Amino acid sequence: MKLSLIPFLAFATLSATKPTPTAESKVFLCSDSTAAEYGPQTTGIQGFGYYLYPFFTSTFVNRARGGRSTRSFINEGLWTQLLNLTSPGDYVVIEMGHNDGGTPGTGGDVGKDRAVLSGVGEETVVVKNSTGKDEVVRTFGSYLRQMIADLRAIGATPVLSGMVPLMRWNDGNTTLQKTWRFTEYSREVSKTENVLFLNHTAYSVARFQELGYAEAKKMFPNDDTHTNSVGAKVNAESFVTSILCADGPNAASFRETLSKNATEIGYGCLGVA
Ligand SMILES: *[C@@H]1O[C@H](CO)[C@@H](O)[C@H](O)[C@H]1NC(C)=O
Ligand SMILES: *[C@@H]1O[C@H](CO)[C@@H](O)[C@H](O)[C@H]1NC(C)=O
Ligand SMILES: *[C@@H]1O[C@H](CO)[C@@H](O)[C@H](O)[C@H]1NC(C)=O
Ligand SMILES: *[C@@H]1O[C@H](CO)[C@@H](O)[C@H](O)[C@H]1NC(C)=O
Ligand SMILES: *[C@@H]1O[C@H](CO)[C@@H](O)[C@H](O)[C@H]1NC(C)=O
Repeated sequence: MKLSLIPFLAFATLSATKPTPTAESKVFLCSDSTAAEYGPQTTGIQGFGYYLYPFFTSTFVNRARGGRSTRSFINEGLWTQLLNLTSPGDYVVIEMGHNDGGTPGTGGDVGKDRAVLSGVGEETVVVKNSTGKDEVVRTFGSYLRQMIADLRAIGATPVLSGMVPLMRWNDGNTTLQKTWRFTEYSREVSKTENVLFLNHTAYSVARFQELGYAEAKKMFPNDDTHTNSVGAKVNAESFVTSILCADGPNAASFRETLSKNATEIGYGCLGVA
């Protein structure tokens, strides 16, 4: 699939918009191992957050932590720590989903305490977690709504982002899986909560699809989830592209956090943001 070449017109006209965010506005990333940082190595695992710093004029703060889901990021106090660092006017991008799957309280979730209920509804389940206490586990959408409300309560702006793809190729390894359920749940919540949605999933899928299975798989040398540094750069560039191409609440002011050279990445917008 070729990316269609829709120029970044929205970006070019930004100077006329309101002067927020200020130079002090920070951009936080709440995510998992696919975005976390593993040091300045050139082989092995690297997360895309490692490569995002030069693309922002505003301070970029990567709070991604390997192995975390929405539920465990909150339960372990990582979310409270992030909120504590956040000031009014800041942006917090929430890109989760890789560790939210499974069945709460059973099977692979025992000892990990990270699986959530599917979907975006209000249903709950009570499980005994590894502390021996009963825990009310909610849906992915419910945890996202909590994060959104927490950020709005302190005057920060939430942004939801679709997760980067795993190397799941179909049709004889010719077609990379496009639709990922946690991305779809995020998108649904972005609509009901009137939050900007970054189509990071679609931009990363498009890039890996363009490379093809053999080239893309080289960027996942350890497993089908974690990129090496080359793959992390692909996911970083697609993340920035998803901001340049985003269309939704606060899209224009969020773009002002990007450094001018972000537009030099050279990838166009997909037909649908
Ligand atoms: C963007 O510009 C900054 C400063 O001019 C530079 O340090 C950085 O490497 C550039 N980033 C990219 C991705 O070109
Ligand atoms: C919040 O940050 C302050 C320093 O800025 C620190 O002293 C405090 O322990 C932090 N609280 C939490 C819950 O992380
Ligand atoms: C276990 O459940 C208790 C009670 O809801 C909760 O306070 C705690 O954060 C949970 N622990 C973990 C590791 O998820
Ligand atoms: C297709 O992908 C699977 C999973 O990565 C791999 O095991 C297999 O070798 C691939 N087949 C070809 C022909 O590349
Ligand atoms: C994300 O991009 C895909 C592929 O272009 C498109 O089908 C989908 O509608 C987009 N979603 C949103 C919320 O923009």
